[in-house]
Amino acid sequence: KPYVIGIDMGGTNTAFGIVDARGNVIASDSIKTVKHADINDYIDELHTEITRVITANDAAGKIQGIGIGAPNANYYTGIIEDAPNLPWKGPIPFANMISEKFGIPCIITNDANAAAIGEMTYGAARGMKDFIMITLGTGVGSGIVINGQMVYGHDGFAGELGHVIVKRTNGRVCGCGRTGCLEAYCSATGVARTAREFLEIRDDESKLRNYDIESITSKDVYDCAIAGDKLAKEIFDYTGTILGEALADFTAFSSPEAFVLFGGLTKSGDLIMNPIKEAYEKNVLGIYKGKTKIMLSEMKESDAAILGASALGWEVKDTD
Ligand code: BGC
Ligand code: NA
Ligand code: ZN
Repeated sequence: KPYVIGIDMGGTNTAFGIVDARGNVIASDSIKTVKHADINDYIDELHTEITRVITANDAAGKIQGIGIGAPNANYYTGIIEDAPNLPWKGPIPFANMISEKFGIPCIITNDANAAAIGEMTYGAARGMKDFIMITLGTGVGSGIVINGQMVYGHDGFAGELGHVIVKRTNGRVCGCGRTGCLEAYCSATGVARTAREFLEIRDDESKLRNYDIESITSKDVYDCAIAGDKLAKEIFDYTGTILGEALADFTAFSSPEAFVLFGGLTKSGDLIMNPIKEAYEKNVLGIYKGKTKIMLSEMKESDAAILGASALGWEVKDTD
């Protein structure tokens, strides 16, 4: 069959697309992930919307498989476990639920793994055998590729680098129930938390003080930083430094050729990249200094994950 469906389930939005064998996204759209308290309502809406796009593109009956990237998803079992950033309690037999609803075979994997596969096949990591994908969104995810292979680990959950602890004392509470995780600092919500903290403990002038402190977002911090706001820039420095230090440690594990960063926060460009690179070089072990690329995803937003997930759609066997 000529097409697959790729679905990228994020903590906030779920993007999906019809993809052909050459990796062209023929059509795509998205729905809100967080809208539905009941997983079945979410699956219903996803089914309605995807069916609409399939029909509009004359692709009914032409879908080989569905590939999905989702937080805390397990490639081996097709199950989504309790996810810090999803509204549903796990374990959810998601791959089966989707196959049944659509009548099309479905394979799932971790969302950051899907992004890594997309980047390796179509993006910044083309031709690389060793790299680590880091996704900076509602959560912080990662996909580790070693010797050209996605690392799944013995249970299918390898690569949860967002929950590596970066602060051992007085760390922030993380959605996973522990404290001090990278995600609690370097996700979009982590940046907003930093903004709230900084505004509370300091009294210098900042455009950020014009925002409602409780509902401040990383985008607000970005807008202010771009407009030259000193405090907002410091928030990016703080975030980038923590991430750069963490990446320096990750390097010792698999000596990647590159870290590919992807997700909302990377839209901040040099504001976040400069402190990351600086902290990285300062902290990485001597043998690695000056050798690792820290780069931005080359994919159009969400395409990395849609395309990566879609690659799983081709793994399913032809049924007719
Ligand atoms: C989850 C990961 C996921 C990441 C990005 C983390 O909280 O534990 O599985 O990849 O968020 O969505
Ligand atoms: Na992962
Ligand atoms: Zn955590």
